Amino acid sequence: MEKTILIKEKIKNFNKIITVSGDKSLSIRWVLFSSLADGMSKAHNLLMSEDVLAAIGAIKKLGIKVKIINGVCIVYGKGINGYKYKKNIIINAQNSGTLGRLLPGFLINTPYSIKIIGDRSLSKRDFKRISVPLSKFGAKFKLHKNKHLPLKIVGSKKLKPIFFKETLGSAQCKSSVIFAGMRTTGTTTIKAKKSRNHTELLARYLNLPIKIQSKKNYDLIKISKVKKIKPLNYKIPSDISSSSFFIALTALMSNSKLTIKNVNINFSRTGIITILKKMGVKIFFINKKNYKGEKIADIRVESPNTLKGINCPKKLNSGAIDEFLIIFLVAAKAKGISYFKDIAELNQKESPRLKWGEKILNKMGIKTISSKNSLKIYGNPQLTLKKNIIIKNYLKDHRVFMTSMIAAYAFGGNWKIYDKDSIKTSFPNFINTINQFKK
Ligand code: S3P
Repeated sequence: MEKTILIKEKIKNFNKIITVSGDKSLSIRWVLFSSLADGMSKAHNLLMSEDVLAAIGAIKKLGIKVKIINGVCIVYGKGINGYKYKKNIIINAQNSGTLGRLLPGFLINTPYSIKIIGDRSLSKRDFKRISVPLSKFGAKFKLHKNKHLPLKIVGSKKLKPIFFKETLGSAQCKSSVIFAGMRTTGTTTIKAKKSRNHTELLARYLNLPIKIQSKKNYDLIKISKVKKIKPLNYKIPSDISSSSFFIALTALMSNSKLTIKNVNINFSRTGIITILKKMGVKIFFINKKNYKGEKIADIRVESPNTLKGINCPKKLNSGAIDEFLIIFLVAAKAKGISYFKDIAELNQKESPRLKWGEKILNKMGIKTISSKNSLKIYGNPQLTLKKNIIIKNYLKDHRVFMTSMIAAYAFGGNWKIYDKDSIKTSFPNFINTINQFKK
């Protein structure tokens, strides 16, 4: 398959209704929760991307049977103590930070050492952020250079509950500690900076012994020993992070309208909506409903008459953590200066995204000023490109690839974008979906 994509033509105004694939965070969590359930769990619309397939591969290594029949995924859980721990298990989390960081929480009681490996991008990421709190439960870790994959974990029979102050706003760290807390006698308490809360909502829906108190600037979560998890049949809603590329495309067009069906609009994920609304984009949630603790709606977007720059409030960062590359692109066309602060975490993602966001904009001729944790973007509402632009992200970051494609279709120019395969990690259907805008 050709791994490079060439784009020379802008997309014309549109009025479309689309569906995007299933939510990645929920898909991975469904696989992991189901693997410990008592009996058979079924998921419809599970995201069939490499990150989720890696999660399925991981539970299979732990002795859990999985079948995919006519697009429905079936996990045959064997109960909370149903993993078959053996010597020399190696689990490949591939590109998935979520899988790599959540798994050690599940494996906190393994009697044998389990090794977790990942691809080049994942191997550069910080795993100390989970090994430090998980060690307090009594598990032992060995990490490459004290911080990276490959990681080895050996659990303990005498696990003890912990208090964990989560300060990064990382849902992965919070979730990993929740999963480990499910296996100890006593109550683990987490004081967590706000981040996506799918793990807590699923745990609550499953009637697990979890208490969640939502405070102004943090969440207080208490989790006690779980004896039993009931099977979890689930229809995974569409992913707002995947939707965001098309929401942003609509924001960058004129006279265009878009509806995206059945998207998870959990408040901890809708930062991009609040930010783009503040910038002048018209966005509405229609057909709102509740689903097993989550909120779902169709998202209706209309291109703005004027896009305005934004001084983005810090409190919106966590709800937009995966969307900043595409938000920066919208800011490139806005009237005035946009300012994003306290965003150093972006450099902890699949690639250093603060750097990459700036790099893409600079290649487009947009002026920026950055620091370690902020970015100022000097928007240009008249921007149309005619030049050649090449994007090659050596860590093959899927969101760098998809953002670049949207830039090419919205601003014009001759783009050569490398590593088309990267979309397989989160949104294998991305190119088919964007092609619908060309008709
Ligand atoms: C995720 C949490 C976020 C996000 C990632 C998915 C999750 O990472 O960036 O894409 O599903 O828990 P952090 O926990 O590192 O913020």
